[in-house]
Amino acid sequence: MQTQRNDAPSPPIALVTGGAIRVGAAIVRALADAGYRVWIHYNRSEAPALALAEALAPAIVGITSADLSRADDRRALVHRIVDPAGPASGRLDLLVNSAAGFEHGAFLARSDEDLLRVLTLNLVAPLSLIRDLTPTLATGGGSVVNILDLAATQPWRGYVDHCTAKAGLAMATRALAGELAPAIRVNGISPGTVLWPDDERFSGEEARARIVAGIPLGRVGSAEDVARAVVYLAGEPFITGHTIVVDGGRSVSRGAGP
Ligand SMILES: NC(=O)c1ccc[n+]([C@@H]2O[C@H](COP(=O)([O-])OP(=O)(O)OC[C@H]3O[C@@H](n4cnc5c(N)ncnc54)[C@H](OP(=O)(O)O)[C@@H]3O)[C@@H](O)[C@H]2O)c1
Repeated sequence: MQTQRNDAPSPPIALVTGGAIRVGAAIVRALADAGYRVWIHYNRSEAPALALAEALAPAIVGITSADLSRADDRRALVHRIVDPAGPASGRLDLLVNSAAGFEHGAFLARSDEDLLRVLTLNLVAPLSLIRDLTPTLATGGGSVVNILDLAATQPWRGYVDHCTAKAGLAMATRALAGELAPAIRVNGISPGTVLWPDDERFSGEEARARIVAGIPLGRVGSAEDVARAVVYLAGEPFITGHTIVVDGGRSVSRGAGP
C-alpha cells in the first residue's frame, strides 16, 4: 500500500492579544486570510471570541482568555501557547500586542494607582509577553508587531498616562529590535482614529467633525487599514525596529490632537 506524503509547509502561527473585537478582530481576520493559523486572546469578550473562531475555523488555533494586567494570567497564557502538547505543538511565529486600555482623566485628578494600572496593561504586559515568548518565537525566526497609538508621539490632553505608556512601548519596539536581532523582528503600527472609542466624548457629531477636520485624507480610518499594515510588517523579513503610522496624515497636519 502506498503511503501518502504531505510535504506542504505548515502554516505560521500567530497570537493576537485583544483579538476578539474591533481592531484586534480585524487583525485576526487579516492574518487568517494571509494563511496564518491564529490564537485569539480575549479578556472579557468570550462570546465574540467564540463567534470569530467559529467564523474563521479552521484558521483558528484556539481562543484563550487572560487578564493581561495580572502576572499569573500572563504566565498561564504563555504556558498554553508554548505547550508542545497543545493544538499548535508549542509553535509561535508572530505575536501581535493589540490589547490595551484607553483611560481618560485630568492629570491632577489621577493617582499613582491609576498610572500603574495603565502602565501595567499598555506597557508591562506587552513587554512581559515578548520576553516570555522569545525562546519560542526565536526558534522559527518569528516577529512581533506592537499596536501603538498616535498618542505615543502626540500629547493628548487628558491622556497623560495613556500617552506615556504608548510612548514607552514605541521606544521598546525600537530597543527590542536591536536586542532580539537577528532571531526576532520587532515592529509597530501607530494608528490614528480608526474606530471611535466607546466614550461619550467621541459620540457627538461636533467632536467627530473636529477630529476629521485634522485628518488630511478627510476621514477616519478602518480597523482593516491597521490589519493590512500588520500583515505587511509580519511578512517583511528585512524590516525591524520601525513603526508604520496609519492615520490618514493626521500626524503631519497642523492642529493634530484628540
Ligand atoms: N480604535 C482606534 O481608533 C485606535 C487608535 C489608536 C490606537 N489603537 C490601538 O489599537 C488597539 C486596539 O484598539 P481598540 O480600539 O480595538 O481597543 P478597544 O475597543 O478599547 O478594546 C480593548 C481590547 O483590549 C483588551 N483588553 C482590555 N483590557 C484587558 C485586560 N485587562 N487584559 C487583557 N485584554 C484586555 C480587550 O479585550 P476584551 O474585550 O476581551 O476584554 C479588547 O480586545 C489598542 O492597542 C489601541 O490602543 C486604536
